[in-house]
Amino acid sequence: MFDTKVLKINDKSLQIAKDYVLSGEVVGFPTETVYGLAGFAFLDDAVKKIFIAKGRPQDNPLIVHLHRDYDVDKIVKVEHDYVYKLREAFVPGPITMVYKSRGVVSPVATCGLDTVGIRIPMHDGAQEFLKSVDVPIAAPSANASKHTSPVTAEHVYEDLKGKIPLILDGGKCQGGIESTVLDVTTETPIILRSGLVTAEMIKKVVGRCEYSKNLPTDKVRAPGMKYRHYSPKCQTALFGRDELDKAIEFYNQSLKSGLTPYYMCDGEIAKKLNGNVLNLGNTASEIASNLYDALHKGEKIADVLIAFEVKTGSDVDVGIMNRLSKACERR
Ligand code: TXA
Ligand code: MG
Repeated sequence: MFDTKVLKINDKSLQIAKDYVLSGEVVGFPTETVYGLAGFAFLDDAVKKIFIAKGRPQDNPLIVHLHRDYDVDKIVKVEHDYVYKLREAFVPGPITMVYKSRGVVSPVATCGLDTVGIRIPMHDGAQEFLKSVDVPIAAPSANASKHTSPVTAEHVYEDLKGKIPLILDGGKCQGGIESTVLDVTTETPIILRSGLVTAEMIKKVVGRCEYSKNLPTDKVRAPGMKYRHYSPKCQTALFGRDELDKAIEFYNQSLKSGLTPYYMCDGEIAKKLNGNVLNLGNTASEIASNLYDALHKGEKIADVLIAFEVKTGSDVDVGIMNRLSKACERR
């Protein structure tokens, strides 16, 4: 058991974080997407501690985080020239590229795969932390496995207190949903997990991009995508945008049973509803940024969270709906 400290990022807390990481402990840190749980990616025992703290399934690989001046090519091999264009356009930023591995990262992190996901975050605090340790950092989102991803240091504390010694507090993450995971080992880059760097944006740079089909018969490319995920601790219900009446009836039924229901929806739908509402905002980037925070709030104040499909017309909707449909049960 640890007495988990939450410290604002400064020279002193960065030094403490560095000492922990280099001695094989794991710490929480902010990025522009969600908070990560960091361990030294070359140490099997440090990486094992990440899986244990989260209760994460052993077959779900971790991505490796580097600071912007670290030589990526020491860790992975570039097999296609389009990678250089992608780096120029989107790195540092909310994208993870899955490359052929050079085999230097702990096999506990890669789950024995011959590929490894590399992410260079653009968040200032993340960069300061990664520069200070100056070693590759394996890090999943810093939540208990299957629970909603953390976008504040408090969210990390709620899930991992007692299990880790330190959380670096960099305020609320602005991006709000995890990085786009992109397989760059193939002739055409394949999106394994949607995020803020969208298929449209990648197509503009590379000329081509596909979504992983993830058919049940496929070899699972991003193993994390097969699990139920992101779920708040309260009851949930997800409705289509044309199912307002059904949702209102569900809300009223919940009230009658003595429960506290909340709607969780964008501004356009909020205007049409009466009662408790968690408003996610209007644009796709606002909605992405507010989604996990609303799920965290929702589980504290509501017994039942009634969510609606998001359809802003932006390509970011794909990433939002991917999270929402895993977090909430379809009715
Ligand atoms: O924004 C993010 O990506 C955050 C922050 C902390 O950087 N991290 C994050 O990590 O979301 P995690 O572990 O929660 O999600 C990583 C995803 C999982 O779905 C995992 O299966 C997939 O990336 N992944 C990791 N390595 C892979 C590999 N070699 N091949 C295919 N998928 C991989
Ligand atoms: Mg995660």
